[in-house]
Amino acid sequence: MTIQWFPGHMTRARRQIQEKLKLIDVAIELVDARLPLSSRNPMIDDILQGKPRMILLNKADLADPAVTREWIDYFKQEGYAAVAIDASTGQGVKEIPAMARELLQDKIEKQLAKGVNPRAIRALIVGIPNVGKSTLINRMAGRNIAATGDRPGITKGQQWIKVGSEMELLDTPGILWPKFEDQNVGYRLAMTGAIREEILNIEDIAFFAVKYLAKYYWEPLAERFELEEAPQDFENPDEIVAVMEAVGRKRGCLVSGGRVDLEKASSVLLRELRAGKLGRYSLESPY
Ligand code: G4P
Repeated sequence: MTIQWFPGHMTRARRQIQEKLKLIDVAIELVDARLPLSSRNPMIDDILQGKPRMILLNKADLADPAVTREWIDYFKQEGYAAVAIDASTGQGVKEIPAMARELLQDKIEKQLAKGVNPRAIRALIVGIPNVGKSTLINRMAGRNIAATGDRPGITKGQQWIKVGSEMELLDTPGILWPKFEDQNVGYRLAMTGAIREEILNIEDIAFFAVKYLAKYYWEPLAERFELEEAPQDFENPDEIVAVMEAVGRKRGCLVSGGRVDLEKASSVLLRELRAGKLGRYSLESPY
Protein backbone atom coordinates (compact mmCIF):
# COMPACT_ATOMS: atom_id res chain seq x y z
CA MET A 1 0.00 0.00 0.00
CA THR A 2 1.28 3.44 -0.80
CA ILE A 3 0.48 6.34 1.43
CA GLN A 4 -0.79 9.47 -0.20
CA TRP A 5 1.54 12.42 -0.20
CA PHE A 6 -0.32 15.62 -0.90
CA PRO A 7 1.82 18.07 -2.83
CA GLY A 8 -0.82 20.78 -2.26
CA HIS A 9 -0.28 20.68 1.50
CA MET A 10 3.41 21.06 1.13
CA THR A 11 3.23 23.89 -1.37
CA ARG A 12 0.93 25.88 0.89
CA ALA A 13 2.97 25.14 4.02
CA ARG A 14 6.14 26.12 2.26
CA ARG A 15 4.68 29.40 1.09
CA GLN A 16 3.38 30.23 4.55
CA ILE A 17 6.71 29.49 6.18
CA GLN A 18 8.62 31.49 3.62
CA GLU A 19 6.38 34.50 4.30
CA LYS A 20 7.22 34.21 7.99
CA LEU A 21 10.93 33.82 7.32
CA LYS A 22 11.04 37.47 6.31
CA LEU A 23 10.03 38.43 9.83
CA ILE A 24 12.45 36.34 11.85
CA ASP A 25 16.12 36.02 12.76
CA VAL A 26 16.18 32.37 13.72
CA ALA A 27 14.19 29.21 13.01
CA ILE A 28 13.53 26.68 15.74
CA GLU A 29 13.04 23.30 14.13
CA LEU A 30 11.21 20.86 16.35
CA VAL A 31 11.64 17.12 15.75
CA ASP A 32 10.59 14.08 17.76
CA ALA A 33 13.61 12.75 19.66
CA ARG A 34 12.45 9.17 19.02
CA LEU A 35 12.59 9.60 15.26
CA PRO A 36 14.48 12.77 14.39
CA LEU A 37 14.68 12.04 10.67
CA SER A 38 11.24 10.64 9.99
CA SER A 39 9.65 13.50 11.94
CA ARG A 40 11.13 16.22 9.77
CA ASN A 41 10.46 17.32 6.28
CA PRO A 42 13.31 16.25 4.00
CA MET A 43 13.09 19.58 2.17
CA ILE A 44 13.59 21.59 5.34
CA ASP A 45 17.04 22.90 4.34
CA ASP A 46 15.64 24.23 1.14
CA ILE A 47 12.53 25.68 2.83
CA LEU A 48 14.45 27.56 5.49
CA GLN A 49 16.74 29.16 2.91
CA GLY A 50 19.85 29.32 5.07
CA LYS A 51 18.12 31.03 8.01
CA PRO A 52 20.09 30.43 11.23
CA ARG A 53 18.49 27.39 12.80
CA MET A 54 18.50 25.28 15.92
CA ILE A 55 17.16 21.76 16.13
CA LEU A 56 15.25 20.81 19.25
CA LEU A 57 14.72 17.11 19.89
CA ASN A 58 11.40 17.23 21.72
CA LYS A 59 9.71 14.48 23.74
CA ALA A 60 13.17 13.45 24.90
CA ASP A 61 11.42 12.07 28.00
CA LEU A 62 10.00 9.31 25.79
CA ALA A 63 13.18 8.53 23.84
CA ASP A 64 16.11 6.27 24.65
CA PRO A 65 18.58 8.71 26.30
CA ALA A 66 21.70 7.04 24.87
CA VAL A 67 20.34 7.29 21.32
CA THR A 68 19.28 10.91 21.89
CA ARG A 69 22.85 11.76 22.90
CA GLU A 70 24.05 10.23 19.62
CA TRP A 71 21.58 12.38 17.71
CA ILE A 72 22.73 15.55 19.44
CA ASP A 73 26.34 14.74 18.49
CA TYR A 74 25.25 13.93 14.97
CA PHE A 75 23.40 17.20 14.44
CA LYS A 76 26.24 19.16 15.99
CA GLN A 77 28.67 17.48 13.62
CA GLU A 78 26.37 18.52 10.79
CA GLY A 79 26.85 22.09 11.97
CA TYR A 80 23.55 22.68 13.77
CA ALA A 81 22.87 23.89 17.27
CA ALA A 82 20.95 20.99 18.81
CA VAL A 83 19.49 20.20 22.21
CA ALA A 84 17.12 17.63 23.71
CA ILE A 85 14.02 19.05 25.38
CA ASP A 86 10.77 18.00 26.98
CA ALA A 87 8.29 20.74 26.20
CA SER A 88 5.63 19.22 28.41
CA THR A 89 7.67 19.73 31.59
CA GLY A 90 9.92 22.51 30.27
CA GLN A 91 13.12 20.51 30.59
CA GLY A 92 15.80 22.15 28.38
CA VAL A 93 13.48 24.98 27.28
CA LYS A 94 15.33 27.64 29.27
CA GLU A 95 18.43 27.11 27.11
CA ILE A 96 16.68 28.27 23.95
CA PRO A 97 17.22 32.06 24.16
CA ALA A 98 20.94 31.61 24.94
CA MET A 99 21.28 29.21 22.01
CA ALA A 100 19.62 31.73 19.72
CA ARG A 101 21.96 34.45 20.92
CA GLU A 102 24.96 32.24 20.24
CA LEU A 103 23.72 31.49 16.73
CA LEU A 104 23.42 35.20 15.99
CA GLN A 105 26.57 36.23 17.81
CA ASP A 106 28.33 37.70 14.76
CA LYS A 107 25.35 39.81 13.78
CA ILE A 108 24.85 41.02 17.35
CA GLU A 109 28.53 41.93 17.70
CA LYS A 110 28.47 43.87 14.44
CA GLN A 111 25.44 45.84 15.62
CA LEU A 112 27.08 46.59 18.95
CA ALA A 113 30.25 47.72 17.17
CA LYS A 114 28.12 50.20 15.20
CA GLY A 115 26.60 51.45 18.42
CA VAL A 116 23.21 49.90 17.62
CA ASN A 117 21.43 48.24 20.49
CA PRO A 118 20.22 44.86 19.13
CA ARG A 119 16.48 44.33 19.35
CA ALA A 120 14.98 41.13 20.71
CA ILE A 121 15.77 38.05 18.62
CA ARG A 122 12.73 37.03 16.58
CA ALA A 123 12.04 33.33 16.21
CA LEU A 124 9.64 30.95 14.50
CA ILE A 125 8.94 27.38 15.55
CA VAL A 126 8.58 24.93 12.67
CA GLY A 127 7.76 21.24 12.66
CA ILE A 128 5.37 18.52 11.57
CA PRO A 129 1.98 18.09 13.25
CA ASN A 130 1.96 16.62 16.75
CA VAL A 131 5.65 17.18 17.39
CA GLY A 132 4.86 19.55 20.28
CA LYS A 133 4.89 23.01 18.67
CA SER A 134 1.92 24.41 20.61
CA THR A 135 3.16 22.88 23.84
CA LEU A 136 6.52 24.56 23.34
CA ILE A 137 5.00 27.92 22.41
CA ASN A 138 2.85 27.86 25.54
CA ARG A 139 5.81 26.78 27.62
CA MET A 140 8.04 29.55 26.28
CA ALA A 141 5.28 32.09 26.68
CA GLY A 142 4.64 30.95 30.23
CA ARG A 143 0.90 30.95 29.57
CA ASN A 144 -1.69 29.37 27.36
CA ILE A 145 -1.68 31.30 24.11
CA ALA A 146 -4.47 29.34 22.46
CA ALA A 147 -6.84 30.02 25.36
CA THR A 148 -6.18 33.77 25.12
CA GLY A 149 -6.89 33.87 21.40
CA ASP A 150 -10.09 31.88 21.79
CA ARG A 151 -11.79 34.56 23.88
CA PRO A 152 -14.76 35.97 21.98
CA GLY A 153 -14.17 39.39 20.52
CA ILE A 154 -10.45 38.89 20.12
CA THR A 155 -9.30 38.43 16.58
CA LYS A 156 -6.30 36.21 16.65
CA GLY A 157 -3.84 37.56 14.15
CA GLN A 158 -0.18 36.81 14.11
CA GLN A 159 1.42 38.11 17.24
CA TRP A 160 4.78 38.23 18.91
CA ILE A 161 5.18 36.54 22.25
CA LYS A 162 7.84 37.89 24.56
CA VAL A 163 10.24 35.26 25.89
CA GLY A 164 12.22 37.03 28.60
CA SER A 165 13.70 40.34 27.51
CA GLU A 166 15.80 39.06 24.63
CA MET A 167 13.53 36.98 22.47
CA GLU A 168 10.22 37.18 20.66
CA LEU A 169 8.37 34.24 19.22
CA LEU A 170 5.71 34.18 16.51
CA ASP A 171 2.56 32.80 18.15
CA THR A 172 1.66 30.62 15.16
CA PRO A 173 4.16 27.93 14.22
CA GLY A 174 5.19 26.90 10.73
CA ILE A 175 3.61 23.56 9.94
CA LEU A 176 5.57 21.16 7.80
CA TRP A 177 4.49 17.79 6.53
CA PRO A 178 6.47 14.62 6.97
CA LYS A 179 7.26 12.85 3.75
CA PHE A 180 6.24 9.25 4.07
CA GLU A 181 6.86 7.85 0.67
CA ASP A 182 9.06 5.38 2.45
CA GLN A 183 6.70 2.94 4.21
CA ASN A 184 8.98 2.67 7.23
CA VAL A 185 8.75 6.42 7.83
CA GLY A 186 4.96 6.08 7.83
CA TYR A 187 5.04 3.18 10.27
CA ARG A 188 7.42 4.95 12.63
CA LEU A 189 5.22 8.04 12.67
CA ALA A 190 2.11 5.91 13.17
CA MET A 191 3.75 3.99 16.02
CA THR A 192 4.25 7.21 17.96
CA GLY A 193 0.75 8.43 17.11
CA ALA A 194 2.00 11.26 14.90
CA ILE A 195 -0.22 10.24 11.98
CA ARG A 196 -3.77 9.06 12.11
CA GLU A 197 -4.40 5.37 12.25
CA GLU A 198 -6.79 5.37 9.30
CA ILE A 199 -3.89 6.06 6.99
CA LEU A 200 -2.30 2.72 7.72
CA ASN A 201 -3.76 -0.58 8.80
CA ILE A 202 -3.62 -0.89 12.59
CA GLU A 203 -2.45 -4.50 12.53
CA ASP A 204 0.35 -3.55 10.17
CA ILE A 205 1.42 -0.75 12.51
CA ALA A 206 1.38 -3.11 15.50
CA PHE A 207 3.29 -5.73 13.51
CA PHE A 208 5.94 -3.14 12.67
CA ALA A 209 6.06 -2.06 16.33
CA VAL A 210 6.35 -5.58 17.71
CA LYS A 211 9.05 -6.50 15.23
CA TYR A 212 11.07 -3.43 16.18
CA LEU A 213 10.54 -3.69 19.92
CA ALA A 214 11.24 -7.42 19.98
CA LYS A 215 14.53 -6.76 18.26
CA TYR A 216 15.73 -3.72 20.22
CA TYR A 217 13.61 -3.45 23.37
CA TRP A 218 12.54 -7.00 24.15
CA GLU A 219 12.82 -6.79 27.92
CA PRO A 220 10.27 -4.03 28.57
CA LEU A 221 7.90 -5.65 26.06
CA ALA A 222 8.26 -9.08 27.65
CA GLU A 223 7.88 -7.67 31.13
CA ARG A 224 4.78 -5.64 30.36
CA PHE A 225 2.90 -8.52 28.70
CA GLU A 226 4.59 -11.39 30.55
CA LEU A 227 5.94 -12.88 27.36
CA GLU A 228 8.15 -15.88 27.58
CA GLU A 229 9.53 -16.58 24.17
CA ALA A 230 11.48 -14.00 22.23
CA PRO A 231 11.37 -14.41 18.46
CA GLN A 232 14.45 -16.10 17.07
CA ASP A 233 14.08 -14.95 13.51
CA PHE A 234 12.79 -11.38 13.26
CA GLU A 235 12.21 -11.76 9.53
CA ASN A 236 9.78 -14.60 10.10
CA PRO A 237 6.30 -13.01 10.20
CA ASP A 238 4.83 -16.01 12.04
CA GLU A 239 7.10 -15.37 15.00
CA ILE A 240 6.09 -11.72 15.17
CA VAL A 241 2.40 -12.58 14.90
CA ALA A 242 2.91 -15.14 17.69
CA VAL A 243 4.09 -12.29 19.95
CA MET A 244 1.06 -10.18 18.95
CA GLU A 245 -1.19 -13.12 19.80
CA ALA A 246 0.49 -13.55 23.17
CA VAL A 247 -0.15 -9.86 23.88
CA GLY A 248 -3.79 -10.32 22.85
CA ARG A 249 -4.23 -13.35 25.10
CA LYS A 250 -2.70 -11.47 28.01
CA ARG A 251 -5.19 -8.62 27.54
CA GLY A 252 -8.17 -10.88 26.89
CA CYS A 253 -8.62 -9.86 23.25
CA LEU A 254 -10.34 -13.04 22.17
CA VAL A 255 -13.07 -13.95 19.70
CA SER A 256 -15.31 -17.01 19.78
CA GLY A 257 -13.37 -20.25 19.66
CA GLY A 258 -10.63 -18.71 21.78
CA ARG A 259 -8.81 -17.17 18.84
CA VAL A 260 -7.00 -13.88 19.37
CA ASP A 261 -8.63 -10.77 17.95
CA LEU A 262 -5.53 -9.31 16.33
CA GLU A 263 -7.10 -5.96 15.58
CA LYS A 264 -8.04 -5.46 19.22
CA ALA A 265 -4.67 -6.74 20.40
CA SER A 266 -2.98 -4.26 18.05
CA SER A 267 -5.06 -1.41 19.36
CA VAL A 268 -4.28 -2.29 23.00
CA LEU A 269 -0.59 -2.65 22.32
CA LEU A 270 -0.32 0.67 20.50
CA ARG A 271 -2.32 2.46 23.16
CA GLU A 272 -0.02 1.21 25.90
CA LEU A 273 3.07 1.96 23.84
CA ARG A 274 1.93 5.54 23.18
CA ALA A 275 1.03 6.03 26.82
CA GLY A 276 4.67 5.28 27.66
CA LYS A 277 3.86 2.00 29.42
CA LEU A 278 6.58 0.18 27.52
CA GLY A 279 9.28 2.57 28.63
CA ARG A 280 11.50 4.83 26.59
CA TYR A 281 12.47 3.89 23.09
CA SER A 282 14.00 5.36 19.95
CA LEU A 283 13.11 4.30 16.45
CA GLU A 284 16.07 5.68 14.56
CA SER A 285 19.71 6.05 15.31
CA PRO A 286 22.20 8.15 13.35
CA TYR A 287 24.99 5.59 13.17
P1 G4P B 1 1.74 20.34 17.65
O1 G4P B 1 1.39 21.71 18.09
O2 G4P B 1 3.11 20.27 17.05
O3 G4P B 1 0.74 19.70 16.74
O4 G4P B 1 1.82 19.41 18.94
P2 G4P B 1 1.19 19.62 20.40
O5 G4P B 1 1.89 20.72 21.11
O6 G4P B 1 -0.28 19.71 20.27
O7 G4P B 1 1.59 18.27 21.10
C1 G4P B 1 1.12 17.01 20.63
C2 G4P B 1 1.09 16.04 21.78
O8 G4P B 1 2.43 15.82 22.26
C3 G4P B 1 0.31 16.53 23.01
O9 G4P B 1 -0.27 15.39 23.62
C4 G4P B 1 1.40 17.06 23.93
O10 G4P B 1 1.02 17.04 25.28
C5 G4P B 1 2.50 16.05 23.66
N1 G4P B 1 3.84 16.58 23.96
C6 G4P B 1 4.39 17.73 23.54
N2 G4P B 1 5.65 17.87 23.98
C7 G4P B 1 5.91 16.75 24.71
C8 G4P B 1 7.06 16.29 25.41
O11 G4P B 1 8.13 16.90 25.45
N3 G4P B 1 6.94 15.08 26.03
C9 G4P B 1 5.79 14.34 25.99
N4 G4P B 1 5.78 13.18 26.64
N5 G4P B 1 4.70 14.76 25.33
C10 G4P B 1 4.76 15.94 24.70
P3 G4P B 1 -1.76 14.99 23.41
O12 G4P B 1 -1.92 13.60 23.89
O13 G4P B 1 -2.20 15.31 22.02
O14 G4P B 1 -2.51 15.96 24.33
P4 G4P B 1 -2.44 16.06 25.92
O15 G4P B 1 -2.18 14.68 26.44
O16 G4P B 1 -1.34 17.01 26.28
O17 G4P B 1 -3.77 16.58 26.24
